[in-house]
Amino acid sequence: MTQAISVEGLAKTYNGTVKAVDGVSFAVDAGEAYGFLGPNGAGKTTTVSMLTALLAPTAGHAIVDGIDVFADPASIKRRIGLVFQESTSDSDLTGRENLQLAAALFGVPRREVAGRIDNLLEKLQIADAADRLTKTYSGGMRRRLELAVGIIHSPRVLFLDEPTLGLDPQGRAGFWRYVQELRKEHGMTVFVTTHYLDEADGICDRIAIIDHGHIVATGSPSELKDRLGGDVVTVRPALADQALAAQAALAHVPGVVSVTPQDGLLRVKCPRGEELVPRLVEACDKAGIGLAGVSLKRPSLDEVFLEFTGREFREDEGMTATDRAVRIGQVQQAWGRSRR
Ligand SMILES: Nc1ncnc2c1ncn2[C@@H]1O[C@H](COP(=O)(O)OP(=O)(O)OP(=O)(O)O)[C@@H](O)[C@H]1O
Ligand SMILES: [Mg+2]
Repeated sequence: MTQAISVEGLAKTYNGTVKAVDGVSFAVDAGEAYGFLGPNGAGKTTTVSMLTALLAPTAGHAIVDGIDVFADPASIKRRIGLVFQESTSDSDLTGRENLQLAAALFGVPRREVAGRIDNLLEKLQIADAADRLTKTYSGGMRRRLELAVGIIHSPRVLFLDEPTLGLDPQGRAGFWRYVQELRKEHGMTVFVTTHYLDEADGICDRIAIIDHGHIVATGSPSELKDRLGGDVVTVRPALADQALAAQAALAHVPGVVSVTPQDGLLRVKCPRGEELVPRLVEACDKAGIGLAGVSLKRPSLDEVFLEFTGREFREDEGMTATDRAVRIGQVQQAWGRSRR
Protein backbone atom coordinates (compact mmCIF):
# COMPACT_ATOMS: atom_id res chain seq x y z
CA MET A 1 0.00 0.00 0.00
CA THR A 2 1.48 3.38 -0.95
CA GLN A 3 1.48 6.16 1.55
CA ALA A 4 -0.40 9.35 0.75
CA ILE A 5 0.88 11.23 3.79
CA SER A 6 3.95 10.55 5.84
CA VAL A 7 4.94 12.80 8.70
CA GLU A 8 8.06 12.62 10.85
CA GLY A 9 8.73 14.69 13.96
CA LEU A 10 6.53 17.58 12.84
CA ALA A 11 6.55 20.48 15.27
CA LYS A 12 5.40 24.08 15.47
CA THR A 13 6.22 26.56 18.19
CA TYR A 14 4.53 29.94 17.84
CA ASN A 15 6.43 33.02 18.97
CA GLY A 16 9.15 30.84 20.45
CA THR A 17 6.88 29.86 23.34
CA VAL A 18 3.57 28.21 22.36
CA LYS A 19 4.29 24.57 21.49
CA ALA A 20 1.20 24.00 19.34
CA VAL A 21 2.47 20.78 17.72
CA ASP A 22 5.20 18.99 19.60
CA GLY A 23 6.77 16.36 17.34
CA VAL A 24 4.06 14.25 15.70
CA SER A 25 4.76 11.30 13.39
CA PHE A 26 2.21 9.28 11.47
CA ALA A 27 1.46 7.82 8.05
CA VAL A 28 -1.77 7.68 6.06
CA ASP A 29 -2.26 5.07 3.34
CA ALA A 30 -3.52 6.05 -0.09
CA GLY A 31 -7.31 5.92 -0.12
CA GLU A 32 -7.60 5.97 3.64
CA ALA A 33 -9.77 8.35 5.68
CA TYR A 34 -7.63 9.48 8.61
CA GLY A 35 -9.05 11.49 11.48
CA PHE A 36 -7.32 13.93 13.80
CA LEU A 37 -9.35 14.18 16.94
CA GLY A 38 -8.60 16.46 19.83
CA PRO A 39 -9.94 19.19 22.10
CA ASN A 40 -9.67 22.93 21.42
CA GLY A 41 -6.10 24.06 21.08
CA ALA A 42 -4.74 20.52 20.65
CA GLY A 43 -2.88 21.47 17.47
CA LYS A 44 -5.20 20.14 14.76
CA THR A 45 -5.46 23.26 12.61
CA THR A 46 -1.76 23.93 13.03
CA THR A 47 -1.02 20.42 11.73
CA VAL A 48 -3.36 20.81 8.74
CA SER A 49 -1.86 24.23 7.98
CA MET A 50 1.64 22.75 7.91
CA LEU A 51 0.66 19.73 5.80
CA THR A 52 -0.98 22.01 3.26
CA ALA A 53 2.05 24.32 3.08
CA LEU A 54 0.21 27.31 4.55
CA LEU A 55 2.49 27.37 7.57
CA ALA A 56 6.20 26.63 7.93
CA PRO A 57 7.08 24.09 10.62
CA THR A 58 9.59 24.64 13.39
CA ALA A 59 10.89 21.10 12.83
CA GLY A 60 10.11 17.90 11.01
CA HIS A 61 9.38 16.47 7.59
CA ALA A 62 6.20 15.76 5.69
CA ILE A 63 5.64 14.00 2.37
CA VAL A 64 2.18 14.40 0.81
CA ASP A 65 1.34 12.56 -2.41
CA GLY A 66 5.03 11.92 -2.99
CA ILE A 67 6.07 15.57 -2.60
CA ASP A 68 8.19 17.04 0.15
CA VAL A 69 5.78 19.65 1.54
CA PHE A 70 8.38 22.07 2.84
CA ALA A 71 10.78 21.77 -0.08
CA ASP A 72 8.10 22.27 -2.73
CA PRO A 73 5.11 24.11 -1.23
CA ALA A 74 3.87 25.38 -4.59
CA SER A 75 3.38 21.85 -5.95
CA ILE A 76 1.60 20.78 -2.80
CA LYS A 77 -0.96 23.56 -3.09
CA ARG A 78 -1.82 22.48 -6.62
CA ARG A 79 -2.09 18.79 -5.79
CA ILE A 80 -4.16 18.79 -2.65
CA GLY A 81 -7.68 19.87 -1.82
CA LEU A 82 -8.49 21.86 1.27
CA VAL A 83 -11.76 22.67 3.00
CA PHE A 84 -11.77 24.86 6.09
CA GLN A 85 -14.51 25.57 8.56
CA GLU A 86 -14.52 29.19 7.44
CA SER A 87 -15.86 30.05 4.07
CA THR A 88 -13.12 30.81 1.59
CA SER A 89 -15.54 31.40 -1.28
CA ASP A 90 -16.47 34.94 -2.30
CA SER A 91 -20.02 35.71 -1.17
CA ASP A 92 -20.46 38.35 -3.89
CA LEU A 93 -20.00 35.74 -6.59
CA THR A 94 -22.39 33.00 -7.58
CA GLY A 95 -21.63 29.37 -6.81
CA ARG A 96 -20.68 28.76 -10.42
CA GLU A 97 -18.39 31.81 -10.53
CA ASN A 98 -16.63 30.66 -7.37
CA LEU A 99 -16.01 27.30 -8.98
CA GLN A 100 -14.77 28.95 -12.18
CA LEU A 101 -12.35 31.04 -10.14
CA ALA A 102 -11.09 27.99 -8.26
CA ALA A 103 -10.72 26.02 -11.52
CA ALA A 104 -8.58 28.82 -12.96
CA LEU A 105 -6.46 29.08 -9.79
CA PHE A 106 -5.81 25.36 -9.77
CA GLY A 107 -5.05 25.18 -13.48
CA VAL A 108 -7.93 22.90 -14.48
CA PRO A 109 -7.66 22.48 -18.30
CA ARG A 110 -10.04 24.99 -19.93
CA ARG A 111 -11.99 22.47 -21.96
CA GLU A 112 -12.78 20.48 -18.82
CA VAL A 113 -13.91 23.36 -16.60
CA ALA A 114 -17.59 23.67 -17.57
CA GLY A 115 -18.19 19.91 -17.50
CA ARG A 116 -16.51 19.44 -14.13
CA ILE A 117 -18.45 22.34 -12.61
CA ASP A 118 -21.80 21.02 -13.86
CA ASN A 119 -20.93 17.59 -12.59
CA LEU A 120 -19.99 18.81 -9.11
CA LEU A 121 -22.98 21.15 -8.83
CA GLU A 122 -25.22 18.24 -9.73
CA LYS A 123 -23.55 15.73 -7.43
CA LEU A 124 -23.54 18.08 -4.44
CA GLN A 125 -27.13 19.13 -5.16
CA ILE A 126 -26.50 22.83 -5.56
CA ALA A 127 -27.21 22.96 -9.30
CA ASP A 128 -30.48 24.84 -8.75
CA ALA A 129 -28.67 27.57 -6.84
CA ALA A 130 -25.59 27.62 -9.08
CA ASP A 131 -26.29 31.09 -10.47
CA ARG A 132 -27.32 32.73 -7.21
CA LEU A 133 -24.90 34.80 -5.14
CA THR A 134 -23.45 32.52 -2.47
CA LYS A 135 -24.36 35.02 0.26
CA THR A 136 -27.93 33.77 -0.23
CA TYR A 137 -26.90 30.15 0.43
CA SER A 138 -27.80 28.26 3.60
CA GLY A 139 -24.98 26.95 5.82
CA GLY A 140 -25.30 23.46 4.36
CA MET A 141 -25.26 24.70 0.76
CA ARG A 142 -22.19 26.80 1.51
CA ARG A 143 -20.39 23.79 2.97
CA ARG A 144 -21.19 21.76 -0.12
CA LEU A 145 -19.92 24.57 -2.33
CA GLU A 146 -16.71 24.69 -0.26
CA LEU A 147 -16.30 20.98 -0.83
CA ALA A 148 -16.84 21.44 -4.58
CA VAL A 149 -14.24 24.25 -4.61
CA GLY A 150 -11.84 22.03 -2.66
CA ILE A 151 -12.02 19.18 -5.15
CA ILE A 152 -12.52 20.99 -8.48
CA HIS A 153 -9.00 19.98 -9.53
CA SER A 154 -9.55 16.31 -8.54
CA PRO A 155 -6.94 16.25 -5.76
CA ARG A 156 -5.64 12.90 -4.64
CA VAL A 157 -5.44 14.04 -1.04
CA LEU A 158 -8.21 16.10 0.54
CA PHE A 159 -7.68 17.96 3.82
CA LEU A 160 -10.77 18.89 5.81
CA ASP A 161 -10.42 21.05 8.93
CA GLU A 162 -13.64 20.74 10.90
CA PRO A 163 -15.66 20.95 7.71
CA THR A 164 -19.05 20.38 9.32
CA LEU A 165 -18.77 22.55 12.45
CA GLY A 166 -22.08 24.34 12.90
CA LEU A 167 -24.10 22.12 10.55
CA ASP A 168 -27.18 20.32 11.82
CA PRO A 169 -27.07 16.49 11.97
CA GLN A 170 -28.83 16.20 8.62
CA GLY A 171 -26.39 18.63 6.99
CA ARG A 172 -23.44 16.75 8.47
CA ALA A 173 -24.73 13.39 7.28
CA GLY A 174 -25.27 14.81 3.79
CA PHE A 175 -21.80 16.33 3.65
CA TRP A 176 -20.16 13.04 4.58
CA ARG A 177 -22.26 11.10 2.12
CA TYR A 178 -20.77 13.22 -0.67
CA VAL A 179 -17.25 12.83 0.65
CA GLN A 180 -17.68 9.05 0.84
CA GLU A 181 -19.00 8.95 -2.73
CA LEU A 182 -16.02 10.94 -3.94
CA ARG A 183 -13.68 8.63 -2.10
CA LYS A 184 -15.26 5.63 -3.74
CA GLU A 185 -15.12 7.17 -7.21
CA HIS A 186 -11.62 8.63 -7.10
CA GLY A 187 -9.89 6.64 -4.36
CA MET A 188 -9.15 9.99 -2.72
CA THR A 189 -7.27 10.07 0.58
CA VAL A 190 -9.00 12.16 3.24
CA PHE A 191 -7.36 13.78 6.26
CA VAL A 192 -9.99 15.26 8.53
CA THR A 193 -10.06 17.05 11.84
CA THR A 194 -13.33 17.08 13.67
CA HIS A 195 -14.89 17.86 17.01
CA TYR A 196 -17.64 15.37 16.39
CA LEU A 197 -16.62 12.05 17.84
CA ASP A 198 -19.47 10.15 16.26
CA GLU A 199 -18.47 11.59 12.90
CA ALA A 200 -14.88 10.40 13.27
CA ASP A 201 -16.20 7.03 14.33
CA GLY A 202 -18.39 6.65 11.26
CA ILE A 203 -16.04 8.11 8.62
CA CYS A 204 -12.46 7.33 9.56
CA ASP A 205 -10.54 4.14 8.87
CA ARG A 206 -8.03 5.27 11.46
CA ILE A 207 -7.88 8.01 14.05
CA ALA A 208 -5.09 9.81 15.87
CA ILE A 209 -6.03 11.39 19.18
CA ILE A 210 -4.03 14.57 19.68
CA ASP A 211 -3.73 16.45 22.93
CA HIS A 212 -1.40 19.35 23.78
CA GLY A 213 0.43 18.86 20.47
CA HIS A 214 1.14 15.16 21.05
CA ILE A 215 -0.48 12.11 19.49
CA VAL A 216 -1.62 10.11 22.49
CA ALA A 217 -3.25 7.18 20.68
CA THR A 218 -3.80 5.91 17.14
CA GLY A 219 -5.81 3.07 15.70
CA SER A 220 -9.05 2.22 13.96
CA PRO A 221 -12.12 3.32 15.92
CA SER A 222 -12.77 -0.27 16.98
CA GLU A 223 -9.11 -0.88 17.93
CA LEU A 224 -9.17 2.20 20.13
CA LYS A 225 -12.35 1.04 21.77
CA ASP A 226 -10.94 -2.47 22.23
CA ARG A 227 -8.04 -0.96 24.12
CA LEU A 228 -10.50 0.14 26.76
CA GLY A 229 -11.04 -3.53 27.53
CA GLY A 230 -13.71 -4.05 24.91
CA ASP A 231 -17.47 -4.12 25.26
CA VAL A 232 -19.73 -4.09 28.24
CA VAL A 233 -22.56 -6.61 28.38
CA THR A 234 -25.17 -5.75 30.97
CA VAL A 235 -26.97 -8.74 32.47
CA ARG A 236 -30.07 -8.30 34.62
CA PRO A 237 -31.08 -11.36 36.71
CA ALA A 238 -34.84 -11.79 37.01
CA LEU A 239 -34.52 -12.05 40.82
CA ALA A 240 -32.34 -9.54 42.64
CA ASP A 241 -31.16 -12.14 45.18
CA GLN A 242 -29.62 -14.17 42.36
CA ALA A 243 -27.12 -11.43 41.51
CA LEU A 244 -24.27 -13.03 43.47
CA ALA A 245 -24.84 -16.46 41.95
CA ALA A 246 -25.03 -14.89 38.50
CA GLN A 247 -21.80 -13.03 39.10
CA ALA A 248 -20.02 -16.30 39.96
CA ALA A 249 -21.48 -18.08 36.93
CA LEU A 250 -20.58 -15.29 34.50
CA ALA A 251 -17.04 -14.86 35.83
CA HIS A 252 -16.20 -18.41 34.72
CA VAL A 253 -17.20 -17.92 31.09
CA PRO A 254 -14.01 -17.92 28.96
CA GLY A 255 -13.40 -14.44 27.48
CA VAL A 256 -14.89 -12.51 30.37
CA VAL A 257 -12.45 -9.89 31.70
CA SER A 258 -14.45 -8.79 34.75
CA VAL A 259 -17.94 -8.86 36.25
CA THR A 260 -19.01 -5.88 38.33
CA PRO A 261 -22.36 -5.62 40.15
CA GLN A 262 -24.08 -2.27 39.75
CA ASP A 263 -27.64 -1.37 40.84
CA GLY A 264 -29.01 -4.93 40.53
CA LEU A 265 -27.24 -5.36 37.18
CA LEU A 266 -23.99 -7.10 36.32
CA ARG A 267 -21.58 -5.29 34.03
CA VAL A 268 -19.53 -7.87 32.14
CA LYS A 269 -16.41 -6.51 30.41
CA CYS A 270 -15.18 -8.54 27.46
CA PRO A 271 -13.31 -7.95 24.18
CA ARG A 272 -16.09 -9.04 21.78
CA GLY A 273 -19.46 -8.80 23.41
CA GLU A 274 -21.62 -9.97 20.53
CA GLU A 275 -19.84 -13.34 20.50
CA LEU A 276 -20.07 -13.75 24.24
CA VAL A 277 -23.75 -12.91 24.79
CA PRO A 278 -25.04 -16.44 23.91
CA ARG A 279 -22.45 -18.02 26.22
CA LEU A 280 -23.35 -15.69 29.07
CA VAL A 281 -27.03 -16.54 28.70
CA GLU A 282 -26.19 -20.24 28.56
CA ALA A 283 -24.05 -20.03 31.73
CA CYS A 284 -26.89 -18.39 33.66
CA ASP A 285 -29.34 -20.94 32.32
CA LYS A 286 -27.13 -23.82 33.47
CA ALA A 287 -26.85 -22.25 36.93
CA GLY A 288 -30.66 -22.01 37.11
CA ILE A 289 -30.69 -18.20 36.98
CA GLY A 290 -33.51 -16.56 35.07
CA LEU A 291 -32.70 -13.33 33.20
CA ALA A 292 -34.83 -10.22 32.84
CA GLY A 293 -32.61 -8.65 30.17
CA VAL A 294 -29.25 -8.57 28.45
CA SER A 295 -27.81 -5.63 26.55
CA LEU A 296 -24.56 -4.95 24.73
CA LYS A 297 -22.77 -1.62 24.73
CA ARG A 298 -19.77 -0.83 22.54
CA PRO A 299 -17.59 1.75 24.26
CA SER A 300 -17.82 5.06 22.42
CA LEU A 301 -14.98 7.30 21.29
CA ASP A 302 -16.01 9.65 24.10
CA GLU A 303 -14.78 7.06 26.57
CA VAL A 304 -11.64 6.48 24.50
CA PHE A 305 -10.95 10.18 24.61
CA LEU A 306 -11.44 10.30 28.35
CA GLU A 307 -9.15 7.30 28.82
CA PHE A 308 -6.25 8.74 26.81
CA THR A 309 -6.44 12.40 27.75
CA GLY A 310 -7.95 12.19 31.22
CA ARG A 311 -10.52 14.80 30.22
CA GLU A 312 -14.03 14.93 28.88
CA PHE A 313 -14.26 15.84 25.24
CA ARG A 314 -16.24 19.05 25.01
CA GLU A 315 -18.04 19.47 21.75
CA ASP A 316 -19.64 22.79 22.38
CA GLU A 317 -16.55 24.97 22.03
CA GLY A 318 -15.68 26.35 18.66
CA MET A 319 -12.41 27.98 17.72
CA THR A 320 -11.29 30.88 19.81
CA ALA A 321 -11.66 34.29 18.21
CA THR A 322 -7.87 34.57 17.94
CA ASP A 323 -7.60 31.22 16.20
CA ARG A 324 -10.34 32.27 13.83
CA ALA A 325 -8.64 35.55 12.95
CA VAL A 326 -5.28 33.83 12.45
CA ARG A 327 -6.86 31.24 10.21
CA ILE A 328 -8.73 33.73 8.04
CA GLY A 329 -5.51 35.69 7.64
CA GLN A 330 -3.66 32.56 6.58
CA VAL A 331 -6.27 31.66 4.00
CA GLN A 332 -6.35 35.15 2.56
CA GLN A 333 -2.57 35.14 2.33
CA ALA A 334 -2.55 31.75 0.66
CA TRP A 335 -5.16 32.77 -1.87
CA GLY A 336 -3.36 36.03 -2.50
CA ARG A 337 -0.13 34.15 -3.12
CA SER A 338 -1.69 31.67 -5.49
CA ARG A 339 -3.50 34.38 -7.46
CA ARG A 340 -0.25 36.12 -8.22
N1 LIG B 1 -0.75 32.19 15.02
C1 LIG B 1 -0.68 31.77 16.25
N2 LIG B 1 0.08 32.41 17.16
C2 LIG B 1 0.20 31.98 18.44
N3 LIG B 1 -0.42 30.88 18.91
C3 LIG B 1 -1.20 30.20 18.06
C4 LIG B 1 -1.38 30.60 16.69
N4 LIG B 1 -2.22 29.72 16.11
C5 LIG B 1 -2.54 28.81 17.05
N5 LIG B 1 -1.94 29.09 18.22
C6 LIG B 1 -2.01 28.29 19.47
O1 LIG B 1 -1.54 26.99 19.20
C7 LIG B 1 -2.31 26.00 19.88
C8 LIG B 1 -2.89 25.03 18.87
O2 LIG B 1 -3.84 25.72 18.07
P1 LIG B 1 -4.67 25.03 16.91
O3 LIG B 1 -5.46 26.10 16.26
O4 LIG B 1 -3.77 24.23 16.06
O5 LIG B 1 -5.60 24.04 17.74
P2 LIG B 1 -6.87 23.21 17.26
O6 LIG B 1 -6.63 21.82 17.73
O7 LIG B 1 -7.11 23.40 15.82
O8 LIG B 1 -8.02 23.86 18.13
P3 LIG B 1 -9.58 24.11 17.78
O9 LIG B 1 -10.26 22.82 18.10
O10 LIG B 1 -9.97 25.19 18.74
O11 LIG B 1 -9.70 24.52 16.35
C9 LIG B 1 -3.33 26.77 20.68
O12 LIG B 1 -2.80 26.95 21.97
C10 LIG B 1 -3.43 28.10 19.95
O13 LIG B 1 -3.84 29.13 20.80
MG1 LIG C 1 -8.71 24.11 14.73
